[in-house]
Amino acid sequence: MKIREAVPGDVPGIARLERENFSLPWTEQIIASQLGGPGKLMLAAEEDGTLAGYMGLQYVLDEGYISNVCTAPEYRRRGVAAALIEEMVRRAQALGLAFLSLEVRVSNEPAIRLYEGRGFVKAGVRPGYYEQPSEDALIMNLNIRKETQC
Ligand SMILES: CC(C)(COP(=O)(O)OP(=O)(O)OC[C@H]1O[C@@H](n2cnc3c(N)ncnc32)[C@H](O)[C@@H]1OP(=O)(O)O)[C@@H](O)C(=O)NCCC(=O)NCCS
Repeated sequence: MKIREAVPGDVPGIARLERENFSLPWTEQIIASQLGGPGKLMLAAEEDGTLAGYMGLQYVLDEGYISNVCTAPEYRRRGVAAALIEEMVRRAQALGLAFLSLEVRVSNEPAIRLYEGRGFVKAGVRPGYYEQPSEDALIMNLNIRKETQC
């Protein structure tokens, strides 16, 4: 599996996974706007030339926010999301970010386990954050600041 920056050719595939997996999917236009530029990064996981998953990052100053994360159903439980997080953390550290934050539906046990397994800790709840269906969001954070030696 190869983890790389998402490119314009990935946009239709990402949009399809968005539609199939989220009730309020990002449009191709929104996805294209997240591929690069100030404060934005999107990673893609590629397996045998096929898009297996993706993960978005938005950042400002030293704060990073993980936006959308998805693995194609046929590639799940094969370490795709874990590899995307690992590479995202590496890149976020290189960008000088201090921590990563994300929201996840409180009922999304697979995603919560994924994030906990990568060291994210529960930091709070946003009541009614999600729509269709309405649900609370769990806020999870990961401290990634590289310790400087003295
Ligand atoms: C959550 C999601 C991204 C996980 O992707 P994945 O590539 O299958 O995850 P990985 O194979 O890297 O799994 C890493 C760890 O996450 C946890 N995990 C992943 N799927 C799980 C499941 N269905 N049940 C329980 N734990 C799960 C496990 O701890 C797993 O480690 P293990 O396989 O060694 O037990 C995927 O299920 C998905 O795309 N879901 C739909 C979209 C979504 O909910 N995105 C997150 C929005 S916040």
